[in-house]
Amino acid sequence: MKILVIGSGGREHAFCWALSKSKKATKIYCAPGNAGTAQVAQNVDIGTFDFDGLIAFAKAEGIDLSVCPMDAPLVAGIVDAFQVAGLRIFGPSKAAAEIEGSKAYSKDFMRKYNIPTAEYGVFNSLNAAMAHCETSKFPLVIKTDGLAAGKGVIICLNMADADEALHAIFTDKKFGASGEKVVIEEFLDGVECSVLAFCDGTSVVPMPGAKDHKAIYDGDLGPNTGGMGVITPNPQYNEEIATHCMEEIFLPTMEGMRKEGRPFVGVLFFGLMLTSDGPKLLEYNCRPGDPETQALLPLLETDLLDITQACMDGNLDKLEILWKDNATCCVMAASGGYPEHFETKYPISGLENINNGVLIFHSGTKYVDGKLITAGGRVLCVVAMAKNLQEAGKIAYEAIENIHFNDIYYRKDIGV
Ligand code: AMP
Ligand code: GLY
Repeated sequence: MKILVIGSGGREHAFCWALSKSKKATKIYCAPGNAGTAQVAQNVDIGTFDFDGLIAFAKAEGIDLSVCPMDAPLVAGIVDAFQVAGLRIFGPSKAAAEIEGSKAYSKDFMRKYNIPTAEYGVFNSLNAAMAHCETSKFPLVIKTDGLAAGKGVIICLNMADADEALHAIFTDKKFGASGEKVVIEEFLDGVECSVLAFCDGTSVVPMPGAKDHKAIYDGDLGPNTGGMGVITPNPQYNEEIATHCMEEIFLPTMEGMRKEGRPFVGVLFFGLMLTSDGPKLLEYNCRPGDPETQALLPLLETDLLDITQACMDGNLDKLEILWKDNATCCVMAASGGYPEHFETKYPISGLENINNGVLIFHSGTKYVDGKLITAGGRVLCVVAMAKNLQEAGKIAYEAIENIHFNDIYYRKDIGV
């Protein structure tokens, strides 16, 4: 089978890598890809929003399966566009992707189907939102309705924070159209857990629980990033909690989406907060997480290509999905200054010193004149696998010390 993976980050590199191990995969393309995807796939210079260009390429090359792990093209309807063109693509429809594309929609959905989540209200004007905050208990969380590249969630400790956030959203329009509405919700205290699940519209098969590290600095300090490292399994997500989440969150979600006429096919990401009052759902993402995917796919025993087919054919219940009984630790090497200002185009060295068994997935890298250079805030991640988390962490940190580029920055406490 010829496969096209759409995107250019570490998650897409991990998808290309996992799909390339399938005996049924004859050729893999990645659009537009990066220097890492070029090792396991052929990069094609087409942008992720150029649906016409991607469809024309898929038709001309006789692509049998396309895979889109990126949220924005999914929310914009890439799956519908491919399907109308008669092409097979793994991912949710535009209607199903709204579960991430609109926070107001997803919160109303959770309420309608009794899925445990933070109490909330939806507001579409500065005055209404301010009035709500004035009578609420702090801390509270203000979220822009639409996608905001991970920046649309503001935790407010007091009214001054809320005032600033709401003016940035409604008066200064800092978040553009994604801030036309806001969700304001209660702050939940607890331990976060990311659960990614394969879905075929009816069945849901969760992957092992993962723990992301969103803050830029050790000890979870500083501003949030796309994710600075992941460990899996998440030590706090035990079997009892997993069973509870299946019954109270995962299955009701699948059934609710079906009832709404928007069956979810693809990988659904449940952002959970494990609170003293039980697990609660913070959010859905309509795609696998980054870097959760880089930490999870190396543990997968079953052919990823078979899983995508079973999801698209509605046969997921007939496929046994097996995982290695191991732990992984994934540490992200970033450009100094990320998530704010940072420089790129620095040469990267030392990858040849990485031992076999440690995987490197590229997030923001490029080849220029045959030289590997940095090309983004998050640059590459190192994934180590071992019998337990402690060992995996040790191997990942030994490996990352071999990698060099100007201003390299990584957290020192992933899984430690
Ligand atoms: P989201 O974009 O919804 O994933 O939110 C980003 C991050 O903000 C989450 O991973 C949490 O760390 C935090 N967050 C979101 N909602 C809440 C909440 N209701 N209570 C506490 N923290 C939250
Ligand atoms: N790592 C969090 C996310 O992908 O949303």
